[in-house]
Amino acid sequence: MVARVSQVAHSLSVERVDTLSDAEMADLCEATDAAIIEGGGFGWLAPQGRDALARHFRGVMLVPERELFVARLDGHVVGSAQLVRPGRNNEAQAWAAQLTHAYIAPYARGHGLARLMVRRVEERAAALGHRVLNLDVRETQTTAIALFEGLGYTRWGTHPAYARIEGRTVAGHHYFRVLEPARGRPTETLFPQDS
Ligand SMILES: CC(C)(COP(=O)(O)OP(=O)(O)OC[C@H]1O[C@@H](n2cnc3c(N)ncnc32)[C@H](O)[C@@H]1OP(=O)(O)O)[C@@H](O)C(=O)NCCC(=O)NCCS
Repeated sequence: MVARVSQVAHSLSVERVDTLSDAEMADLCEATDAAIIEGGGFGWLAPQGRDALARHFRGVMLVPERELFVARLDGHVVGSAQLVRPGRNNEAQAWAAQLTHAYIAPYARGHGLARLMVRRVEERAAALGHRVLNLDVRETQTTAIALFEGLGYTRWGTHPAYARIEGRTVAGHHYFRVLEPARGRPTETLFPQDS
């Protein structure tokens, strides 16, 4: 995909990865710390540094229920997101997956990468047979709220004591979006019907 901002054409891409080169990992860690410093996108509140973040991402790529997606701007990794699938013991909720830890580094925002990344995660979740994608976000993340609501996510609840940031309790919004797999009955028909 090509985005044009200020007359400069940028290439945008998102891919699922299970390995990263040293250079890609360095870019990913830099993007992550930049997003943390700016104030969001991860559970961390303080920058972690390259070694700790690299350990985190290597771990993510090893966990069977997690998939890592990286966003690239002009070939450089500038953000990521994770798709979390229910554990094998959770058959009752096997049809739902979670999108978490989605962020784009401040220096790469406004090009449409987050939108592309969310759509890629949705496509992957649907391809894996999931019918619902869940996510939650702090009420203070207004850009992310605009992103997810613009992409058709339904807010179904607000947790009043969702997070604790610098001595302040922050509420969080919970969202879901219905996914339509290529085959099978439409997901909406599987929802409880009003009697
Ligand atoms: C939210 C975030 C991922 C958006 O990244 P981005 O690549 O700049 O977003 P995009 O360029 O793809 O924009 C997609 C939509 O997001 C919303 N958006 C993006 N920037 C915005 C801004 N500055 N003000 C308001 N809405 C904005 C818009 O709805 C936009 O759609 P539009 O272009 O049709 O108006 C990024 O700001 C970020 O990482 N924020 C901190 C982390 C976070 O909140 N993560 C989500 C919680 S898990």
